[in-house]
Amino acid sequence: MKMKSNGKPASRIAGMGWFAPDKILTNTDLERMVDTSDEWITTRTGIKRRHIVEPGTRASELATPAARSAMDEAGVNPEDIDMILVATVTGDYKFPSTAIFLQANLGAKNAVAMDISAACAGYLYTLHFADMMIRSGQAKTVLVVGVEVLTSMINWKDRSTCVLFGDAAGAAVVVPSADNRGILASYLGTDGSLADLLNCPGGGSAYPAMNREIPMEDFTIHMKGNEVFKHAVKKMGDAAVIALDLAGIEKNDIDLLFAHQANMRIIDATAKRLKVPQKKVFKNIQEYGNTSTASIPLAMGEARQKGLITDDSVVVCVAFGGGFTWASSVIRF
Ligand code: UT7
Repeated sequence: MKMKSNGKPASRIAGMGWFAPDKILTNTDLERMVDTSDEWITTRTGIKRRHIVEPGTRASELATPAARSAMDEAGVNPEDIDMILVATVTGDYKFPSTAIFLQANLGAKNAVAMDISAACAGYLYTLHFADMMIRSGQAKTVLVVGVEVLTSMINWKDRSTCVLFGDAAGAAVVVPSADNRGILASYLGTDGSLADLLNCPGGGSAYPAMNREIPMEDFTIHMKGNEVFKHAVKKMGDAAVIALDLAGIEKNDIDLLFAHQANMRIIDATAKRLKVPQKKVFKNIQEYGNTSTASIPLAMGEARQKGLITDDSVVVCVAFGGGFTWASSVIRF
């Protein structure tokens, strides 16, 4: 699925926000929990720490402060929001959606609310659909959120996955664009034939939670890391090139690259493919680990707060996750 604005963006990001819990789990903490080392985690992933919730914390509790920060920056009131799209695979309940809890928390009584499940690419999917809703005239103010409480589905005995993930939320308010600033192009892709490489099978209709014979491990993340790695490098590079092409933006004109913070080596490979120098590659994986769909809005929110995204900045966002799903966007601020 592709969107090309031909220089006339339909929508722009008017505000961004993020939230990560205070509690920190370091590589040294993990050395005491599983057979791993700070050296292995740092060299193979780039991760040093991750922020994690207290058990029982709901995704909507992370999404709400992130959304409020985005709304503050955008200067919108809860009643102004027409639509709330929440990307998550670790929502509060199986149903209703996390978006409805967020709607209630914010008092966004005029908003239609729903979740999108597209794993780590989910946030860029919500951004694309927000743009489409505005483009079609169906909505004027869309709140998009990426949120994960990944610690709710981690197997703390599996060293190949438990060292990777953290909890966080990021949000943006998307409104109509009046000039050449906004979402210039986006691209979404899916390949459902590779679902076995990264998933959490338990709790759905295939392996219902009430079936006590299903092992607890089936309610946690399963990943064939090195195979996912190869697909991620290829697809993220390809997706970024496709979105740049659609936007008519040259690689040299990229001001900042936001690549899904899954692994420092994947981020670096994507930057190399795009010939983007390191100083233009935003990284916070060392602090938060892989926060799945929260990773891009968390990175963008932090970069904005640090003054790295300014008026006219051209940013490229690219993500890849379970499904497989992948997505990219080119945005002029
Ligand atoms: O967010 C969605 C998309 N996700 C991704 O893009 C993640 C992609 N994959 C990756 O980032 C990497 O594949 C991992 C970080 C998950 C793993 O790194 P790797 O370099 O691919 O390692 P590997 O899985 O090939 O394992 C290499 C070795 C194995 O030992 P042997 O068989 O060589 O003796 C593993 O058992 O590293 C071992 N290992 C560990 N050792 C210490 C795996 N996990 C750990 C660990 N500590 N935590």
